[in-house]
Amino acid sequence: MRINAFGIQIHFLLGPDANQFVFQNRGNLFANARWNHFVGPFFPRGLMLLDFDEHRLHRRIMNAAFSHEALVGYFEQMQQTIGNELSSWTTGPCLLFKRLKAMTLNIGSEVFVGQTPGAEADAVNAAFLDAVQAATSIIRLPLPGTRWRAGIQGRALLERHFLAAIPNQRRRPRNDLFSRLCEARTEDGELFSDEDVVNHMIFVLMAAHDTSTITLSNMVYQLARHPEWQERLRAESRALGTATLAYADLDQLESMTLVMKEALRLCAPVPILPRGVTADCAFKGLRLKAGATVAVSPWLTHYLPAYWREPERFDPLRFAADRAEDKQHAFLWTPFGGGAHKCLGLHFGTMEVKAILHQLLLRYRITVVDGYVMPQDFTSLPIPKDRLPVRLEALH
Ligand code: HEM
Repeated sequence: MRINAFGIQIHFLLGPDANQFVFQNRGNLFANARWNHFVGPFFPRGLMLLDFDEHRLHRRIMNAAFSHEALVGYFEQMQQTIGNELSSWTTGPCLLFKRLKAMTLNIGSEVFVGQTPGAEADAVNAAFLDAVQAATSIIRLPLPGTRWRAGIQGRALLERHFLAAIPNQRRRPRNDLFSRLCEARTEDGELFSDEDVVNHMIFVLMAAHDTSTITLSNMVYQLARHPEWQERLRAESRALGTATLAYADLDQLESMTLVMKEALRLCAPVPILPRGVTADCAFKGLRLKAGATVAVSPWLTHYLPAYWREPERFDPLRFAADRAEDKQHAFLWTPFGGGAHKCLGLHFGTMEVKAILHQLLLRYRITVVDGYVMPQDFTSLPIPKDRLPVRLEALH
């Protein structure tokens, strides 16, 4: 399929074989630098925008900030923030997407940047939101009053903020991602420059924030529409006997894992992944020229009726061991992408989403009005157009 969008022609390669062809990327035929066309001005040289040898080197350094030991540290840190955030919530009707977005941003500030909420954290969060929102502007010029201009100004503030903080972070390392990126080295001792640290920080904050919020929103939406699943997850959470999870507890939340997989299937937070073609090549008889733009789509692959039974239906048990619909092809269920660029925050995102949902379910019963169907807004990443109106009832 070929479409014209965002000022370029895009060839869509659809289905699990196409995903495999592009993600495995034999012969380096596909370059991630094409992401620059969409998000380059705000997230230059983020890990996802680098290619081949340079990407490999940066990813190896960054891995240190996502090691098992680092994740356990982040996990412990975020428990308290989640509890505090939830304690400030009122019961009754609310727009849940907004609350979840504020919560994941605050967790990000604290766990990644080591910032406790306050005036400076608010300014950084606002600048960061401006940069994210600008990436999908229709008007792509810094005209007064435009999202684009706010994004450029936001990016400049973030750069100043992080650059100024680096000397201190290098002198007095802490447990947050920022410190870890300042310290992270390959086995050969290679370290990031200050500019690299800033670019990676800003990109990771972006990559972590909306995707987790979208995942959580879709899980909560489905649980509100399917109370039997909500009760099943709540029972599993209660059985752990604590609001404050330890990292090892996560494996016990088996039903939550099924629901998370199904929510990510029904709504892949990054629905389309673009690539630039580096050399003339062909896929299943379709010729692609060097310089062309191709895209694969986790979203569409997740709805192919040839693989998924009743693909439109919420049915978490399709991921259970006895059905394992996702296991028919290694590149069929790909919400986190695949190959060299597969999401680096996969484990971080999973633990964050589960820790939040665990505490949320212990505190509140969540309902939506009868027959509610959440409308999706596809302007950039797929978010609930109506910000997900739900009703929260306190549980005792
Ligand atoms: C929970 C939901 C998330 C989803 C569905 C998701 C999805 C994705 C996808 C599809 C890609 C691949 C993009 C491509 O190949 O072009 C990606 C890359 C990436 N993600 Fe995530 N992500 C999530 C959470 C996170 C979190 C929480 C973080 C950070 C803590 C993160 C950090 C990254 C980074 C650094 C990359 C670039 C990896 C590379 O290019 O080597 N993501 N993500």
